[in-house]
Amino acid sequence: MLAGSAFVVSAQSNAPSSPAPGQAPAANPPATATPGPQAPVQAKVAMCIGCHGIPGYQATFPEVHKVPMIAGQNAKYIAASLAAYAKGDRKHPTMRGIALPLGDKDIAEISEYYAGLAPVEPVPATVEAPADVKKLLDKGACASCHGANFSKPIDGTYPKIAGQHADYLYVALKSYQIQGKPYHGRSNAVMAGQVKQFTHAELKTLAQYLASLPSELRTVPQSRFR
Ligand code: HEC
Ligand code: HEC
Repeated sequence: MLAGSAFVVSAQSNAPSSPAPGQAPAANPPATATPGPQAPVQAKVAMCIGCHGIPGYQATFPEVHKVPMIAGQNAKYIAASLAAYAKGDRKHPTMRGIALPLGDKDIAEISEYYAGLAPVEPVPATVEAPADVKKLLDKGACASCHGANFSKPIDGTYPKIAGQHADYLYVALKSYQIQGKPYHGRSNAVMAGQVKQFTHAELKTLAQYLASLPSELRTVPQSRFR
């Protein structure tokens, strides 16, 4: 199990020796190849890189959108969201499959790793939003939890949202409106209470505005063959 990293397992099925850099291993995240708890963090994130380490990488479920940037995100929030996928509070099937086999130690290490992967300067407080957007932000008191720059939430388990991909923010916001479906939706009560007062058009406006702000989030391109 110690040597059972995603890389080693998929490489073995292709060729006995190491593949040349750039040669892709098996495309699907190998669900059975979860590294053991003692494996280095690089082995634990090997399967994340195929989606979160490729700038502009798009997911197609439940609609086409860019996968979220997680480098530079709060460690506690990364851990909380992985736990939410594992528990089923977030129903996204792919991320559920990925989060379920992770143990507490894996989640802690992976979260610290991504939180520290993109050291950037803290972004400044947001200047006044356009009137139509400000009305929506005030109605939801978004800054009271996510921070004046939308990057310094009042609790580490809350996300930085400034500069996150607009299409992802829109999908995420809509997902809090969906309850009781097997493969869709997020059940977080705080955000569910927030989004129910908005139409999809208003959520899109919020998403586009938030995405336009200076960000502490990044996609850090990485080789799978470290
Ligand atoms: C097949 C592509 C894919 C792989 C592989 C993948 N992810 Fe994801 N990840 C996604 C998508 C798509 C979402 C958005 C899911 C949603 O809508 O809730 C996501 C969401 C997340 C989130 C929530 C981000 C947020 O802002 O709420 C975290 C954290 C995360 N992934 C971490 C990881 C980690 C850690 C790994 C590796 C152990 C990983 N992912 C592997 C596609 C992937
Ligand atoms: C009372 C505190 C609170 C308020 C007010 C609040 N949020 Fe949140 N927000 C949270 C928490 C907590 C989460 C994480 C929920 C989860 O675990 O899925 C979150 C998650 C989000 C996400 C998902 C981010 C991601 O990476 O997936 C978005 C987008 C978001 N909030 C936007 C907003 C907007 C826009 C408003 C105002 C309309 C708002 N929030 C108001 C606490 C709050």
